[in-house]
Amino acid sequence: AAAPLVDTYERRVTYLRLSVTDRCDLRCTYCMPERMQFLPKVEVLSLEELYVLARSFMARGVRTIRLTGGEPLVRRDVIDLVRAIGRHVGSELDEVTLTTNGTQLAQHAEALARAGVRRINVSLDTRDPHTFRTLSRRDALPQVLEGIAAAKDAGLRVKLNTVAMRGVNDREIPDLVAWAHAQGHAISLIETMPLGEVDEAREDRFVSLADVRRDLESRWTLTPSDARTPGPSRYFDIVETGGRIGFITPMSENFCSGCNRLRVTATGQLYPCLGGGELVDLRAALRSDAPQAQVADALDRAMAIKPEKHDFRIGAGFAPTQPRHMSVTGG
Ligand code: GTP
Ligand code: 5AD
Ligand code: SF4
Repeated sequence: AAAPLVDTYERRVTYLRLSVTDRCDLRCTYCMPERMQFLPKVEVLSLEELYVLARSFMARGVRTIRLTGGEPLVRRDVIDLVRAIGRHVGSELDEVTLTTNGTQLAQHAEALARAGVRRINVSLDTRDPHTFRTLSRRDALPQVLEGIAAAKDAGLRVKLNTVAMRGVNDREIPDLVAWAHAQGHAISLIETMPLGEVDEAREDRFVSLADVRRDLESRWTLTPSDARTPGPSRYFDIVETGGRIGFITPMSENFCSGCNRLRVTATGQLYPCLGGGELVDLRAALRSDAPQAQVADALDRAMAIKPEKHDFRIGAGFAPTQPRHMSVTGG
């Protein structure tokens, strides 16, 4: 078998985040400016090329493939790709999954379940229609809630993702957690990260999850959980609600030493680290006259240059650590 992907810090890559589009039907203020420039569609890899890439990563020991965006479900025929990758679940792969904003999940939940998806992460920063509209600049809360319900009905395990933001949803977090748990969903809270220029100052919105956790602990009993998903979330069980809560703390508590992932944009650019650094051009490798060998070399190169950790900083005077927006890599 081909060599596993191990970087210079002895971290093994088993998790691929594969973006299928940079486009999105929402415009969340922490993620994008109002007038976001999307990539020309001709730049984007075909579904066939994305599948070839997925196979190349499987051959090197990747066990989890998460499709991201932008919003993955705005890409036409993305289910065909999920189905193709889904055929490898149970053999080369442990899972194929998606991170979605939920707006189109109601239409796709059944098909995703049939395509081999067992669990799905859905972004939900608020359950208040007014806050949702201000935050995402679109009026789509009812669709998202329908999508979450449809996913559950289709038998998918749902985990909600909530970016904690001062003055936007920080007061609502206990209510969101209680609601998620009442619905039977896990929920992960996320610290906002400085990726790309947006129309507001990130330091005005940043909240440390250490503070949020203390606040939650004044209401409820949180006990550390052994549960793990392959991502950076660290979980606790809440005794009173009977549900699970995760904390993703890139700013207050760096988790890079356990990093197991690579991310690839919809145009085939591999980011060894979410925090930036040199890229590896998988599209050029794919479209060369020796794609297999060139992609294999490109993956070796990615492992050679994967940085030890990100250097995210938020505060007055700090420009975004990364000029690129989260929507380009889907996190
Ligand atoms: P599972 O553990 O498989 O459920 O997934 P996940 O939590 O890693 O994935 P998801 O797409 O739901 O991402 C949740 C948040 O974690 C997003 O804000 C991502 O940007 C962030 N995230 C995921 N991977 C990384 C990483 O390697 N580094 C950093 N800093 N953030 C990450
Ligand atoms: N910082 C933290 N999380 C972000 N997301 C998008 N942009 C950012 C950011 N700058 C979240 C989305 C989604 C996940 C993929 O990443 O809300 O839940
Ligand atoms: Fe890994 Fe980079 Fe993410 Fe840190 S920021 S966990 S090094 S990908």
